[in-house]
Amino acid sequence: MKNSKLFSIIAAGTLLLTASTAFAEGDVAKGKKVAKKCVACHTLKEGGKNRLGPNLFGILNKKSATNPTYKYSKAMANSGLTWDEHTFLEYITKPRKVVKGTKMSFPGIKKAAKRADLLAYFKTLRSGEDHDDIMGNVEAGKRVAKKTCTVCHSFDKGGKVVYGPNLFGIYGKKAASVEGYKYSDALKNSGLVWNDKNLAAFASNPEQFVKGTTARFPGLKSTKDAADILAYIKTLK
Ligand code: HEC
Ligand code: HEC
Repeated sequence: MKNSKLFSIIAAGTLLLTASTAFAEGDVAKGKKVAKKCVACHTLKEGGKNRLGPNLFGILNKKSATNPTYKYSKAMANSGLTWDEHTFLEYITKPRKVVKGTKMSFPGIKKAAKRADLLAYFKTLRSGEDHDDIMGNVEAGKRVAKKTCTVCHSFDKGGKVVYGPNLFGIYGKKAASVEGYKYSDALKNSGLVWNDKNLAAFASNPEQFVKGTTARFPGLKSTKDAADILAYIKTLK
């Protein structure tokens, strides 16, 4: 491949990445202030007591009504919700609309920016261990892949080599084992297997994780994007 073409691929990748991270992520410090509205009824620290509402440490990506020490309303107990980002945002916009009959008597937060800040803060309310296996969102992962990976990779079964190897079924495979693709020595000799940890680390910063790889893209900045893409890649089998 000519350098100029390579460069434009990289530039395109970088540009797309920049565009994808330009979406306003909430501000943790501001979110902490917004959360003052919640602490009248909720503790937010790990192992905190229940107040009028249950302790909310680590609530994101949990199923609703799963705190065994708290007595939920029937409405919440039967809601079948999972507190993924989308549901969480909807709920705090208007709790009673999302869970009819919830006993959380809180009117909701009207401003989208405040909700985004709150979400950013809630994302920090988890222990170190949980952090590694944040549950990703497949649909979001698909979008991240489109934005940031498909300039160089196809993801469909039997897809062509774009610039990097086809990534269908990559999960669980040894690194550099797609037939017919000419890998760098660095990746060939890496001895890696594409499990959760390695994939997330590689997608977050390829050149740091595998020194000398020809996967020259800056990597996903957000751990959420990395978790989402991982969730998506796992479905490709
Ligand atoms: C006036 C008290 C009150 C306030 C203020 C309040 N909540 Fe609640 N919250 C509750 C109660 C009570 C429940 C239990 C609801 C039920 O069982 O129907 C609850 C439940 C929840 C749940 C579901 C927890 C689970 O285990 O499934 C979430 C998430 C939540 N609140 C988030 C928030 C956030 C975020 C704020 C601040 C923006 C907030 N709440 C403010 C009283 C409150
Ligand atoms: C600028 C082009 C480019 C972009 C953008 C890119 N990659 Fe790659 N990728 C490559 C190249 C080239 C390789 C082969 C690396 C080597 O041989 O060292 C590769 C290899 C890989 C591998 C290892 C495949 C194997 O067979 O072992 C994975 C996994 C991977 N990329 C994931 C991703 C993901 C996920 C994204 C999007 C977040 C992405 N890549 C974005 C160019 C790119």
